[in-house]
Amino acid sequence: MIEVRSPKNEKEWEEYYLLRYELLRKPLGQPRGSEKNKGDATGKHFALFLDNQLIGVSRLDTIDSSISQIRFFAVSKQHQGKGFGKQLLTGVEEWAMKNGYSKIILQARENAVKFYERNGYQSKEKTHLLFGKVQHYLMEKELF
Ligand SMILES: CC(C)(COP(=O)(O)OP(=O)(O)OC[C@H]1O[C@@H](n2cnc3c(N)ncnc32)[C@H](O)[C@@H]1OP(=O)(O)O)[C@@H](O)C(=O)NCCC(=O)NCCS
Repeated sequence: MIEVRSPKNEKEWEEYYLLRYELLRKPLGQPRGSEKNKGDATGKHFALFLDNQLIGVSRLDTIDSSISQIRFFAVSKQHQGKGFGKQLLTGVEEWAMKNGYSKIILQARENAVKFYERNGYQSKEKTHLLFGKVQHYLMEKELF
């Protein structure tokens, strides 16, 4: 069974931040703790559960009343390429639409640009180089 929802207890929050670290910060040589920032207090958090196992993470930040931004989006390594990223993205977009956002923007890592393009996002411009290593691209999608 697939579920997209916020983590709801201490164990799930620990797993959520650990997966974020393992997938998005550890490979870049960053220390534990670097996976969190102050936006975690205000962002909307989404976890993808497969048969109660947490396998995907994402955060949605408010930019203004109509625009939100996806951040920290990842699917566990052994579950990549099986459609789970698409299901997590759909869950985030459905929530954004229900909550009145008409556009989602994001900073895509170079390796993820094609994934977002397959899901209706357009690349707008080349942006920053995270930790001097990972090229990012500003992408956006009109939801309605
Ligand atoms: C990028 C990521 C989230 C994609 O999730 P995923 O579960 O592997 O993607 P899916 O299996 O749902 O793929 C959905 C679609 O995108 C395509 N796609 C996914 N990754 C792709 C890639 N690297 N190149 C080309 N197409 C890709 C799939 O072929 C599929 O297309 P389809 O709908 O036509 O079949 C995942 O690979 C990941 O977590 N990567 C490491 C962390 C990361 O880079 N996160 C993004 C930060 S901006």
